[in-house]
Amino acid sequence: MPYLFTHEEKSERERLAAIEAACDPITIECLEKIGVADGWRCLEVGAGGGSMAQWLCGAVGPSGRVVATDLQTKFLEAIDAPNLEVRRHDITEEDLEPNAFDLVLARKVLEHLADPSTALLRMAAAVRPGGWLYLEDSDLASFMRLSFPHSERFKRSYGKFIEALSSAGFQPKLALRLGDELRAVGLRDVILKGLMFEASGDSDLPGGKVFRMTIERTRERMVKAGLLTNEEVDQLLADIQSPELHAILCVHCSAWGRKPGNDE
Ligand SMILES: C[S@@+](CC[C@H](N)C(=O)[O-])C[C@H]1O[C@@H](n2cnc3c(N)ncnc32)[C@H](O)[C@@H]1O
Repeated sequence: MPYLFTHEEKSERERLAAIEAACDPITIECLEKIGVADGWRCLEVGAGGGSMAQWLCGAVGPSGRVVATDLQTKFLEAIDAPNLEVRRHDITEEDLEPNAFDLVLARKVLEHLADPSTALLRMAAAVRPGGWLYLEDSDLASFMRLSFPHSERFKRSYGKFIEALSSAGFQPKLALRLGDELRAVGLRDVILKGLMFEASGDSDLPGGKVFRMTIERTRERMVKAGLLTNEEVDQLLADIQSPELHAILCVHCSAWGRKPGNDE
């Protein structure tokens, strides 16, 4: 199933920047816990705009190496870092070098794949014995508490938005299962953490911009499929920015685990 959001669309770099602004502090905190250090060889799968690949280049220093892959590499090629290798690669189709990386990272990539388990096996195979696999995705199915005068309208439209993403292969329930997924490919010392925040139209959390831009980018698909009319998409965008809305829209999850060493 083709990836939904082409980098050729004018607003896509801005949407990726909103993802980076919302997620980078979370990812960096976890990678510092894992202990990314000088000289590490790292792989980022589906590196998008490249903010984490760039951060990794700094963290591993001149003696380290970072490989950043994506189906679309335009934004990655614009990064100037001597220890970065950019590779056009489809994680659903092509293997990677086995047992090669101290860290393999995929943020907000697995959730877009119709068969995340096969991609995960490929990523796990690329981790060296004793190395780490780090994943981050958002569970949209855990849309929970809602306080809003027009809750029924909002719930219906938000549900249709998730339906439109799902029909393109998106996995709205994957993130809460990431710990199980890592154990299933043989990783140990697995940690799964979730972060949730209350979305409110009158606060400008960076995650709010990701939602707004993703709804806008999904508009055509929703309208063509007869899920929502253009007017209903406009209303959903207005509702999500309403100061009267208070809702938990997702749980954002980070999960990581270690590949057993050769003597374990
Ligand atoms: C939501 S963006 C996240 C970008 C980046 N990981 C981040 O969190 O800032 C998903 C990225 O995964 C890439 N992608 C989607 N399917 C892919 C595949 N099969 N193989 C490699 N990359 C893929 C997309 O091109 C896009 O850049």
